[in-house]
Amino acid sequence: MVVDFRRIRPHLQPVSIEGQCAVNPASVNMSDRRNKVQLSVLLFLTLSVSAFVEELDDTFMEMRGDDDIWLIKFYAPWCSFCKQLDPVWHQIGSELKSLGSPVNVGKSDATASPGLAKEFKVRGYPAIFMWKKDVKYNYSGPRTKDGIMDFANRVGGPLVRSLSSLQLFQHAMSHHNIMFVYVGATSQLKGNFTSTAEELIVHTYFFSSSRDVLPKAVSLPSLPAVVVFKDGTYFTFDEENDGDLKSWINRERFPNYFLIDSYTLYAMGESGKLVVLALVEVKSLCEESLR
Ligand SMILES: *[C@@H]1O[C@H](CO)[C@@H](O)[C@H](O)[C@H]1NC(C)=O
Repeated sequence: MVVDFRRIRPHLQPVSIEGQCAVNPASVNMSDRRNKVQLSVLLFLTLSVSAFVEELDDTFMEMRGDDDIWLIKFYAPWCSFCKQLDPVWHQIGSELKSLGSPVNVGKSDATASPGLAKEFKVRGYPAIFMWKKDVKYNYSGPRTKDGIMDFANRVGGPLVRSLSSLQLFQHAMSHHNIMFVYVGATSQLKGNFTSTAEELIVHTYFFSSSRDVLPKAVSLPSLPAVVVFKDGTYFTFDEENDGDLKSWINRERFPNYFLIDSYTLYAMGESGKLVVLALVEVKSLCEESLR
């Protein structure tokens, strides 16, 4: 099935914020009341680990150091999806602390501290952001510990990670399905690569290396070059045919064939890609669905 995103995009928008409470508390529903009992149990549990997650109010904007990196969850006391996230958030706080990560973890009651929420243009709860230097990154993926930890480690680290040896390159290759690598000396292209990384690091990893670090089998027509490694092969950015670097990276950041969810489906539509969808029963894969 070929999907024309220009037609289905309006229907996709609400899907991407599925599981979020509206800012207007009119949407308080029955499940909130049912959650009250669970909440009192949670409150008890979180007391012991709350040191890993700081409660932030409107004074935070002046208090924050310029180089501090913060992972912040905005919530409302009546929001059921926020309560579901509580235990995950505390696990993330404790894990990042024990890993010695530079990322600080906080949460902010947007109904009590509306100034901070306004600064982040929060439009639903819970809302998850990384604040690094003067850039705010919104996390819109699945609210799982793994998903959020990956986001925190990726966005909290360097924009462009330097690969100084073949071993480091191979190590990175074994951990990432998709890698964008800038190869060569400083240039305007490098500037474009870095500014693209600043924006798209919410989605993917960016690296740089010198030519002699990459395996000999990788052939580059000229330097500097931007290469994407994915699907067991690699493609080189070609300014003449591929247009501007950011749009190319935005199109190439998806593998050829993978399991999509509502977040990635929406993101692919935004990139202007044509997508072929196969709907398969994952639990009982038959020969036809594998094909
Ligand atoms: C790099 O950025 C400059 C300035 O924004 C732009 O004019 C140019 O087209 C970009 N080049 C590529 C290859 O994206």
